[in-house]
Amino acid sequence: MKIAAVQFAPAFGEVEANLRTCRNLVSSVEADLYVLPELALSGYLFESPEEAHSLAQDPEGSEIGAFADLAAERGSVIVVGFAERAGEAVFNSSVLVGPDGRRSVYRKIHLFYPEKDVFLPGDRPFEVVEAAGVRLGMMICFDWIFPESARSLALQGAEILCHPANLVLPYCQDAMVTRALENRVFAVTANRTGTEERVGKELTFTGLSEIVAPNGEILAKADTTGEAVITAEIDPGRARDKAVTPRNDAFGDRRPELYRLD
Ligand code: ACM
Repeated sequence: MKIAAVQFAPAFGEVEANLRTCRNLVSSVEADLYVLPELALSGYLFESPEEAHSLAQDPEGSEIGAFADLAAERGSVIVVGFAERAGEAVFNSSVLVGPDGRRSVYRKIHLFYPEKDVFLPGDRPFEVVEAAGVRLGMMICFDWIFPESARSLALQGAEILCHPANLVLPYCQDAMVTRALENRVFAVTANRTGTEERVGKELTFTGLSEIVAPNGEILAKADTTGEAVITAEIDPGRARDKAVTPRNDAFGDRRPELYRLD
């Protein structure tokens, strides 16, 4: 199968324009799975929960519906980050839409710095979704620094980690090589680019979206600033083989009975 990471700079507050950019980028390259950045429709630096709520989407609403239509049109799976309106609450979420109309939502569990003033933290466990014949796990941006995120998904059988991101610190892209390697899974980090200057803050997002194989090989990588759709042809079955050497299995050799939690 062919998998893709879509990289661009969402314009703050321009939901319709960002949706058009997403649609154009996805339509520019054939793939079976597309992963797009975190908060791809709204932008990142909100001044308040109320502002985030006003720019948020209902997962059953028309904007996410537009991604479902795109997935159906292309016979593909799309994972995209968005601000999720849930009654009065707003979560930093991603949605997986399938060509069959399925919509699965993940709510970011580990919120990063300014997000803590705006979003509620995710309230549901990491979960694997089967779509297009593969087992997909969603995690969002700063979830990377907690190895439990990728591990939990991989132990549940995820073959590909779908990782929408708005990265500002310089460590994650290197770290995702280890997340892929230690779990023997594919990892697709779709990061945004550009700078946002709002509410007395300025953040520059680092791009460098990447697709990593279960042996840690970087199969595709974008640059720091450009709009890009990077792709890789993969056999997801590779992620079911956890062998590291003929006598070592990354999961079979775990010793959870000796991993003290306190
Ligand atoms: C991040 O979690 N957006 C850094």
